[in-house]
Amino acid sequence: MELYDTLKSYDQDHLLTYWNDLSTKEQSQLTQDIKKININELNGYVTRALAPVNNGHSNNIDQKMKPIPSEHFGSATDMNDENAKRWEVLGLEEISHDRIAVVLLAGGQGTRLGVKYPKGMYNVGLPSGKTLYQLQAERIRRLEQLAFERTGKKGVIAWYIMTSEATKQQTLDFFEQHSYFGLDKNNVILFEQFTLPCVDFNKKIILAAKNKIATAPDGNGGLYRALREHGVLDDMSRRGVRATHVYCVDNILVKMADPVFVGFCREKGADCGAKVVEKNHPDEAVGVVCLVDNVYQVVEYSEITSETACLRTESGKLTFSAGNICNHFFTLDFLKNVCSLEQESQLYHHVAKKKIPYLNKDGKTVTPSTPNGIKMEKFVFDVFKFSERFAVLEVKREDEFSPLKNADKPDGIGGDSNPRTSRWALMSLHHRLIASAGGQIADQSGKVITVEESCSNTEREYPVQVEISPLLSYAGEGLDNLVRNKTLPSPVHLTLQQ
Ligand code: UD1
Repeated sequence: MELYDTLKSYDQDHLLTYWNDLSTKEQSQLTQDIKKININELNGYVTRALAPVNNGHSNNIDQKMKPIPSEHFGSATDMNDENAKRWEVLGLEEISHDRIAVVLLAGGQGTRLGVKYPKGMYNVGLPSGKTLYQLQAERIRRLEQLAFERTGKKGVIAWYIMTSEATKQQTLDFFEQHSYFGLDKNNVILFEQFTLPCVDFNKKIILAAKNKIATAPDGNGGLYRALREHGVLDDMSRRGVRATHVYCVDNILVKMADPVFVGFCREKGADCGAKVVEKNHPDEAVGVVCLVDNVYQVVEYSEITSETACLRTESGKLTFSAGNICNHFFTLDFLKNVCSLEQESQLYHHVAKKKIPYLNKDGKTVTPSTPNGIKMEKFVFDVFKFSERFAVLEVKREDEFSPLKNADKPDGIGGDSNPRTSRWALMSLHHRLIASAGGQIADQSGKVITVEESCSNTEREYPVQVEISPLLSYAGEGLDNLVRNKTLPSPVHLTLQQ
């Protein structure tokens, strides 16, 4: 049989072990699965991906790392009122001309959070009960409105959402059920990233079932192949998009299409840019933006040695402190280049050793207790190396970064990057915005709780309930009339009055 001969020539004929147990339909499913794989190409990926693991190359990366030169770095301290205002105006102008799109990376499986649905559908327990997707949709709506108020021209921010086999249908159904949260559905474009087979340490493709190959999404750097092969870049061109803001689904504070960041990158003439926050401790699970062999790169938290992560400057700051918050700016021209086969094929897969369910000798699916194989992923930031003009903006963590990665602790206290910390971060930000607009918040006994008091304990629930609808305010604007000289009783939920 031709299929068998081909597989045999690549030492993958074990894929047909259960052939005789399968119905005709199942045989045809397996045949289709196998035919989708370019085994030669896959072998190349695996060999290339495993090479650094086998020869300890990741240690070499450490030795080549250099911090970002200061001239390319707009730090939070550069973000004075005057600069921020100028960048914001520039960004809003761009938005009002339909030139900015947002691209959401939402193909991840949320394994650490432990839910069976896409992370964007997660409700972290805010007073409004809004999910991450709803917060993001409403931020887009408010920003379009803001651009209109400032420029007199109503622009559209197209929202491209990259899903995967595991997340596509549920995401689509969710948006349909919620009428796209008030956005025009023509401006919300879902597309699917590709998958790659999982292989064991002997490079053999793993069977998930007798008629099914174990596959995994090809990483958030699968974006570039997906953009190219699903015609998304053409769609962007048709709409007149000139630049995109690419971001991760799980940061509750994400400022999508942030006009300040857009304006900053535009003013610097950047083709590629990243927002960073100062890393708060050496072990924090964030990548660091730095130079490797004199090109920009993110060295991922899983790939840096702890020795390098702990290095400090004379002033005591971490040497590699530019923590990646997965907020990237790419011009469309830059994207077109990096999505070309020539450049995209130069992005190497990173390897993650995983416990991959497999079929044992009796044909039963088993989940191993230790890693038995690898998943290969491209990373979205690996295209930084192609940038000719890179810009980095350091922003304040408390204003812009609180990712949702893990489940809550059983007692609901402490932990990091979990639903409680997400609520805490959003409420604390909104409390500060109300305070800077001249209002204050009282707890249920009527006692005024200041921002300082609230922030004294970050391990427990935020002491007051406070939330501002994104439809009312994108970044604190427009609150004065509502809150100045007022004491608002908790729970506070400021919404747009129709
Ligand atoms: C990511 C960054 C890390 C950064 C951190 C900040 C990457 C590779 N790493 O790490 O440098 O410091 O966020 O929170 O970007 N996704 C897909 N398809 C996939 C895999 C993931 O779309 O195949 C999406 C996820 O849905 C998510 C985003 O990519 O929106 C990041 O994935 P996640 O696994 O959460 O990344 P981290 O390891 O936390």
